[in-house]
Amino acid sequence: MADPRRRRRRTATAIAAPNIALVKYWGQRDERLRLPYNSSLSVTLGGIRTRTTVRFDPGFARDRLSLNGRWVTGPPLDAVRKFLDRVRELSAEPEHAEVVSANNFPTASGLASSASGFAALAGAAAWAAGVDATPADLSRLARVGSGSAARSIFGGFVVWDKGQRADGLDSVARPLFGPTHWPELVDLVVVIRGAPDKPIRSADAMQRSVATSPRFAGRQRAVPPRLERMERAIAERDAERLFPEVMEECDDFRAVCETTRPPLDYLTPASRAVLDAVRTVNREAGHPVAAYTHDAGAHVHVFTLAEDAATVRAALAAVAGVERILSLRPGPGLHRAGRSAAA
Ligand code: PMV
Repeated sequence: MADPRRRRRRTATAIAAPNIALVKYWGQRDERLRLPYNSSLSVTLGGIRTRTTVRFDPGFARDRLSLNGRWVTGPPLDAVRKFLDRVRELSAEPEHAEVVSANNFPTASGLASSASGFAALAGAAAWAAGVDATPADLSRLARVGSGSAARSIFGGFVVWDKGQRADGLDSVARPLFGPTHWPELVDLVVVIRGAPDKPIRSADAMQRSVATSPRFAGRQRAVPPRLERMERAIAERDAERLFPEVMEECDDFRAVCETTRPPLDYLTPASRAVLDAVRTVNREAGHPVAAYTHDAGAHVHVFTLAEDAATVRAALAAVAGVERILSLRPGPGLHRAGRSAAA
């Protein structure tokens, strides 16, 4: 009779979405555990997602990774293998795994964030390995793959508390408000034509900012009260108070990048023209009707309310170099395929 262990296969499929930070994570006080200097706040996006299946099987001689329909090796596989090692430690699971991951949004859109990828991998790997993990445990696990992935475990509006402990147990995301808290809030994702690939990994770039930007220390003082003001504005669904804070935070993040040595410049002339278009729309409206933000890339997220979305979208579409605009709402957090999301 066949050895039952030889036939044991454990599989799980998870779905997670990218998130866009309104308060950015930029700088790690511990690089191995990805413990941040400051807390951050984000919106998990609806309509775009990563779907990942993990299968542990005693028949596999090594870990394998398929991304968007292709088997890949090199740095993406190395990162996944390192991540699976952590899951194997947690579960005493000795087997190798096959990871099949695909995004329902084009990788070329620049939204192929590591956040949805590592959040989905954390869920699928932990469930497949039989680890009994709470959402907070999954957030801590996802964090070591990619910091921003800690936040994609939860839907809607999410805070990642920086924590104090050296072991990272208190550096974990938590849901602030679920995806239906503010249904009128729209994220117009402005995809910039010909956006360059990231020259260096964010995890390395941010450490360069910590070491060389004269603005890093000032940012650390500005972020906590700004995050509190944003939390209050979101609680009250007050766009007029939230939008200027979002832009101020984005400008602060960009100033830290630009004063890093050598400088980190993620924007193209078209991205900068989009920021200008948002400033013009607000000036012409006489009050803040839109807010721009971007992360370590050329694409720009423009928040607005449903009632203003058509006007704002038309202004953005008129900017030369804009390839297309996606209209997204807050969406759900990590969940198993075929099941509805909790938060
Ligand atoms: O999690 P990473 O290594 O992809 O870094 C994310 C950094 C930013 O996107 C710029 C900010 C953030 O908080 O998401």
